Amino acid sequence: MENKPTLKQNNGGTQLLLQFLKGSKLYFVLSIICSAMTTLIDMINPQIIRGTIDNAIGGKESGFPVWVNDIVESLGGFRYIGEHLWIPAIAIAVFGLFRVGFQFATTILNTTGSEILVKNMRDTLFSHISRLPYSWHMTNSTGDIIQRCTTDVDRMRTFVAEQLTSVFRILILVAMSMYFMFSMNVKMALIATAPIPVILAYSVIFRKDMHEGFKVCDENEGKVSDIIQENLTGVRVVRAFANERQEVERFGKANEYYCSLWVHMGKVIGKFFSIQDILCGMQILLVTVFGAVFAVKGQMTAGEYVAFVSYNGMLSFPIRRLGRMLSEMAKAGVSLNRLQYIMDSEEEEDRPGAVDADMTGDIKFEDITFCYEEGHDVLKDINIDVPAGSTLGILGGTGSGKSTLMLLLDKLYEIPEGHGRITIGGVDIRDIRNQHLRKNIAMVLQEPYMFSRSLKDNIGITREHLQLEDIQMAADAACLTEAIEGFTEGYDTFVGERGVTLSGGQKQRAAIARALTQDAPIMIFDDSFSAIDNQTDAAIRESLEKRFGTATIIIISHRITTLSRADQVVVLDGGRIIEHGTPEELRQAGGMYQKIYEIQLGIRGEEVRADG
Ligand SMILES: Nc1ncnc2c1ncn2[C@@H]1O[C@H](COP(=O)(O)OP(=O)(O)OP(=O)(O)O)[C@@H](O)[C@H]1O
Ligand SMILES: [Mg+2]
Repeated sequence: MENKPTLKQNNGGTQLLLQFLKGSKLYFVLSIICSAMTTLIDMINPQIIRGTIDNAIGGKESGFPVWVNDIVESLGGFRYIGEHLWIPAIAIAVFGLFRVGFQFATTILNTTGSEILVKNMRDTLFSHISRLPYSWHMTNSTGDIIQRCTTDVDRMRTFVAEQLTSVFRILILVAMSMYFMFSMNVKMALIATAPIPVILAYSVIFRKDMHEGFKVCDENEGKVSDIIQENLTGVRVVRAFANERQEVERFGKANEYYCSLWVHMGKVIGKFFSIQDILCGMQILLVTVFGAVFAVKGQMTAGEYVAFVSYNGMLSFPIRRLGRMLSEMAKAGVSLNRLQYIMDSEEEEDRPGAVDADMTGDIKFEDITFCYEEGHDVLKDINIDVPAGSTLGILGGTGSGKSTLMLLLDKLYEIPEGHGRITIGGVDIRDIRNQHLRKNIAMVLQEPYMFSRSLKDNIGITREHLQLEDIQMAADAACLTEAIEGFTEGYDTFVGERGVTLSGGQKQRAAIARALTQDAPIMIFDDSFSAIDNQTDAAIRESLEKRFGTATIIIISHRITTLSRADQVVVLDGGRIIEHGTPEELRQAGGMYQKIYEIQLGIRGEEVRADG
């Protein structure tokens, strides 16, 4: 987590939000319109009540606009309505029915819109993440990425569906309430609106505190998710070292800290809402008391007073809600920043003019120097020529740079300009399309990974529509058939997290079979025979030679017998090539290869490992 890049500021947040809103915008716009309609109906009812009290029952002069009077006249006039009070009652009921309809439509449209929004967000994020460079995945923790794609996505949904759409409703509510209040009694309207700027200013000031608080909470939720994810993935290590207590303590501490942050946020939010409630309460008190005084003094009619109190109640709803909106907005702002961090990370791209070069040519490593961190060279001056169709063996101690060299060949890490190059058939791999390069290099990684799928799907993952015969052939070449026959469900056996756990050797063989299905002209085996016994190791290599004789093969191994049939072997030490030759030459060169050879054959007794 320490070396994780810090969150970028939300400079293009709106643009990202619009990108996410693609496909759901129309639903939200319609939902806003329907919601605005319910608000309009809410606005009409107090006017019906006012007219009924003042004009229909009270017999006062109408203060309504001409078009309202026209409607009243068409219904028989105020006096007639006063004698038939069921008319306003029916009007209120009809408007109520319309309100229910609009409310229903708002809910449906909003739900549909938010589901499309969430789907779009997840799809966009997943597809972007899958195109991010390998190095990005190595520097960002899985737990935190998952948290961003779940909790943060959900927060954005809540914000858009619940807050953003209600902004418009609230704006209409405020504008209409103000309009009616000012049109009925300017003095009273001024009294009602005077405290509002104070309440608004107070909310805006508080928003900053909340934003910071939510940011810290989110970051710590990421840390808690990380511990859970690591413990689930690394359950074997935890159990094997009886580390449960320490891990539970570690989790407990992170969890406690995370909870304490939310308790603190609870206090901050609680304080905010309480003070805001007091301010709103005072505003309502002002309107009620002054309204009553004005009504008693005759400066306001009873109907106006009732309508005024209704509008003020409606006005205080958005003001109270403002606090919640700002708090949700602060949360959503943090979440949008966190999603933007992912979306701002640059996808892996081919160089302009990258080609699908012929991959059956010679592979040349030319003057390669590489480091992960400035100043710590992992590979230095690497020069190797691997003729097409030949086998290169690589021997070297732990951390000597063997896997790194293969990651460079697969362009999982880029060699910076001026630090040498790798060519295949004379073409710099920088100029080869990534997908083309990787489709033509079958790599068995040092730590094979099995997906929670059937064995068949795990092996056949390299190509679409692979026939079972191809999978069986690959499994056969990797000496896995016997093991598969041992499983009751054969190739349909579920492996990985939710299925049968393969042994280390079975996993390695399944990974080898997987690479073989790729039928690539270049094959890399990174310590892929370490968990396989000598006999099987020899059998696999033999079948490889038979079936894939034309491929260029690179084998990394600590076992001399595995390398004995290679055309050439390089010995790496501290990132440099210290020996280079055919296995026969190196056996008598008096170097590390010879030492290891003699020990592994039992000629020497002393303990010498590949790492010296
Ligand atoms: N992603 C990374 N970031 C920083 N350093 C790394 C990274 N991957 C490997 N290293 C460092 O680079 C060096 C070479 O690692 P590499 O995995 O290439 O060694 P190796 O020869 O394959 O070792 P082994 O035989 O144990 O597999 C090591 O010191 C390792 O700590
Ligand atoms: Mg390695």
